[in-house]
Amino acid sequence: MKKRNYVPVVLLLLLSIQNIQAQDLKPSEAALITGQQQRHHLMPVPMSLNFRPGKLAVNDSFTVALKSFKDARLQAGIERAVKRLENRTGFALARGWTNDPATATLVIECLGPGQSVPSVEEDESYTLEVSEKQAMLRAPTVVGALRGLETFLQLLDGDRGGYFLPLAQIQDKPRFPWRGLLIDVCRHWQPMEVVKRNIDGMAAVKLNVLHLHLTENQGFRIESRRYPKLHQMGSDGLYYTQEQMRELIAYARDRGIRIIPEFDIPGHTTAWFVGHPELASAPGPYQIERTYGVFDPSIDPTREEVYKFLDRFLGEMAALFPDAYMHIGGDEVTGKHWRLNPQIQAFMQKKGLQDNHALQAYFNQRVSQILQKYGKKMVGWDEILHPDLPKNIVIQSWRGQKSLAEGAKQGYTGILSSGYYLDHLYPAAMVYAVDPVRADSGLTPEEEARILGGEACMWAEYVSPENIDSRIWPRMAAIAERFWSPRSVTDVDDMYRRLAVVSVHLEELGLMHELYADKMLRRMAGSQEVQPLKTLAGVLEPLKVLGRANVHPITQMTPLTRLVDVAGPDSRAARRFSLMVEALLSDAPRFSVYREEIENLLSEWHRVHPTIYAMADRSPVMREAEPLALELSQMSAAALEALGYLSAGVAPHDGWRAEKLALIEAVSKTKSELEFPILPTVRRLVIAASEIPQLKSMSPAEWNSHVTTLASDNDKK
Ligand code: ACM
Repeated sequence: MKKRNYVPVVLLLLLSIQNIQAQDLKPSEAALITGQQQRHHLMPVPMSLNFRPGKLAVNDSFTVALKSFKDARLQAGIERAVKRLENRTGFALARGWTNDPATATLVIECLGPGQSVPSVEEDESYTLEVSEKQAMLRAPTVVGALRGLETFLQLLDGDRGGYFLPLAQIQDKPRFPWRGLLIDVCRHWQPMEVVKRNIDGMAAVKLNVLHLHLTENQGFRIESRRYPKLHQMGSDGLYYTQEQMRELIAYARDRGIRIIPEFDIPGHTTAWFVGHPELASAPGPYQIERTYGVFDPSIDPTREEVYKFLDRFLGEMAALFPDAYMHIGGDEVTGKHWRLNPQIQAFMQKKGLQDNHALQAYFNQRVSQILQKYGKKMVGWDEILHPDLPKNIVIQSWRGQKSLAEGAKQGYTGILSSGYYLDHLYPAAMVYAVDPVRADSGLTPEEEARILGGEACMWAEYVSPENIDSRIWPRMAAIAERFWSPRSVTDVDDMYRRLAVVSVHLEELGLMHELYADKMLRRMAGSQEVQPLKTLAGVLEPLKVLGRANVHPITQMTPLTRLVDVAGPDSRAARRFSLMVEALLSDAPRFSVYREEIENLLSEWHRVHPTIYAMADRSPVMREAEPLALELSQMSAAALEALGYLSAGVAPHDGWRAEKLALIEAVSKTKSELEFPILPTVRRLVIAASEIPQLKSMSPAEWNSHVTTLASDNDKK
């Protein structure tokens, strides 16, 4: 378990510091300052941020004035922002904008439209100055103004006097120009509204690239007019028409977001072959793949007809997608079907291609020429890295920072995705800690500049339109901060504090990351009364890194409606429990800080067991919750006993510790698709209780550190 530094609340309150440059701070200082500094909820934290005492009131006479440049995109962006402001405050605000910058509450001075097709070179900078009289947002481009509007909305606060903005001076621009989210719409289809609400969420946290993974073994999701059998036979009828895609591209552009399409070739191509088996390296027929994993079907890179096909198809897509970049995938080619095909083997021999990697490099080079012809730069996964490819390609690293740095040293631009796999379900703290360019990367400034940023990946084996938002948000906001904010912004507790507020703001945009759970639990229970089930789901997390597949393999056709599909990746209850227990143990030998709250929480957990058994009588799908509810009750009982011993300052009897640790051990070994993130904290309480006698011979701080060591030794076992 990760150790946290406990900063006493009093210290936070005593400190009073003004004028903070976030990038100047060490993490611990940043925590102290953001802890008391207006307790702002800006995410990402701006490059430079100065607060001063005072407020700009936001009331029902709020108006916006546009100075200098205006266009339809900016005006629509302002209207959306005003609508959100109205919904938050309950005020009916003036429609449109005043022509009088002198009296307006928010004045926007934008110098120009920005690029007609958003690009990696877009100027996204802005400044925002909030005085008692008005807020002044200045930006060289519309995209910069849109970014600033999001900051404006995040600054809104309230107190007894009403709504207000704290007086502030902000200068902001992104650390990286490529800040993305990949959504795999193939393994599970995601309809238009899901993509749109996620684009809105992206804009709210200043992300600027939506990477749509459009073709896969399990589905071909874009209409091709030149080769209609691709989508007609490879998609179960679930694909975006070209008209819909144009709508999405315009929707994203309106929000300063690029859409980059991925056509994953030469592997991951089974769905192409359902309609076009002639492209494949092995004879068909082929069917849409319903299971998950890495598969052998791959495009035959040796036949000229294949390149004619790709030329026509990619040419069609190049005309549809305006972005300068096109992603060709290139990952996980097994090469098996190449080895088994004598004609391919003869081709390799004739061309002197030593191995499958050389054959794939030959293929990539041909594809790269096609893309060049259509004015597109190529993006691909690590595997495409090869000295023969032009240097303007982008390597998207899913294998790690090392291979990203390796590419940068060889002169390639790159983006990082390793560490940002949302489907691996690591908590926000872990994804937040991953930096595209670590301070110790060993890269020269020139090489470092080749790392354009990163993309988080929402691979879709285990997400439906119903729960996908909960796997993306709010963690994506923490990653967005990593991509935008100065490297020095790393305080995890403060990130979680702000994330909780940003998560509520994200719901304004229609995102379902909070709402989905109640609905799914009601369906599961067949009842309005789901509180015990919600409590149980709230202290569970699905196994990390697709571990669930080893327990209960599923296919594309399996409904994603069970407890494992509800439980989120970053249990708030577990985190709260852990922080409270840490504070309690730091309060040795009194053990009174948070004691009552911890007791209440444990009692609530303890009670779920009988109720869930009763509910499951009528709902067979709930029965898998029964053993988990029992385990939760047992662990809570152990923790309550530990709390009792600590409160009384009395050590438990011989054998108690071994018995409770055995229980915890048994829970950790239970075969389940879900795990209890509260488990290390329960163990810590049990060990603390049984170490009470040591308090006589140690200072409280020594004792606490001794308990932490014992508990983490136990974690490792
Ligand atoms: C990948 O995860 N195969 C890009």
